[in-house]
Amino acid sequence: MNYRHAFHAGNFADLVKHAALLQLLGRMTSEGGPLTIIDTHAGRGLYDLAGPEARKSGEAAAGIGPLMAALDAPAAFKPLTKAVGGLNSGVEVRRYPGSPWLIAEALRPADSYLGCELRANEHAALRDLLKGRRNVETLCADGYETAMSRAPKAGRLLVLIDPPFEQSDDYRRIVETVRGVRTPGATFLVWLPLKDLETFDAFLRDLPDRTVGLVVEARMRPLSDPMKMNGCALALIPGPLDLEPSLQAIGDWTTGTLGEGGVAKVYRL
Ligand SMILES: C[S@@+](CC[C@H](N)C(=O)[O-])C[C@H]1O[C@@H](n2cnc3c(N)ncnc32)[C@H](O)[C@@H]1O
Repeated sequence: MNYRHAFHAGNFADLVKHAALLQLLGRMTSEGGPLTIIDTHAGRGLYDLAGPEARKSGEAAAGIGPLMAALDAPAAFKPLTKAVGGLNSGVEVRRYPGSPWLIAEALRPADSYLGCELRANEHAALRDLLKGRRNVETLCADGYETAMSRAPKAGRLLVLIDPPFEQSDDYRRIVETVRGVRTPGATFLVWLPLKDLETFDAFLRDLPDRTVGLVVEARMRPLSDPMKMNGCALALIPGPLDLEPSLQAIGDWTTGTLGEGGVAKVYRL
């Protein structure tokens, strides 16, 4: 396990994922009963953009940096830019939130969060970050297994699946998890890299039939080099279909402003 999200925090892919996550959370917490959220691959929860990893990769400087300075960013980014603004004083963005922080901040009193992180040092940082928060639990454990074993039998559930895709079996394990979580009506938000289209299409074909939902493809450049991360995608299963315009706006701005001849597509599965 070599993946360290500190190199990638605040990059274009985080912007797409986190802006969409906040749109979805806004919808799911504006109405309805208590919501359980399971974050299978949580990371450390908060990232130092002045640290060596972020400075070395330069990914945040090409992602959240331009977004915070943009005058033309669509309203769908507002919850994310507000969250980032709240963590930083002044113009420079030094701290960037991960999914656990964004989710923990959005919880209502009866909602709950379970974040899983397999790397011990990342988990320790996450546990310390969220210590003392009500209805928040973190585990140093495999997120796929935990989602299947800890999903409630009933009630409203959102599962965020955001693996590093270091292991070739991540695609298979996501599909197994979507099948293995038995909570009726559960919603899944899955993040995927876009390298070549066959790998991605095969994943969509493998999803169980009950999973009618939305797909967001943010292609940052033509998908001509399958060895590169040419963009990212989200599968929202089943997800509120009326989020389509917000997700399209997020994808359009990201690919149009940060991409190299890219294009965004949102479609129904
Ligand atoms: C892409 S990062 C997660 C970023 C986070 N979801 C966010 O949006 O801020 C993936 C994380 O999953 C962790 N990880 C890898 N395999 C895992 C597994 N099977 N279960 C739980 N965590 C895992 C990695 O150590 C890494 O911190």
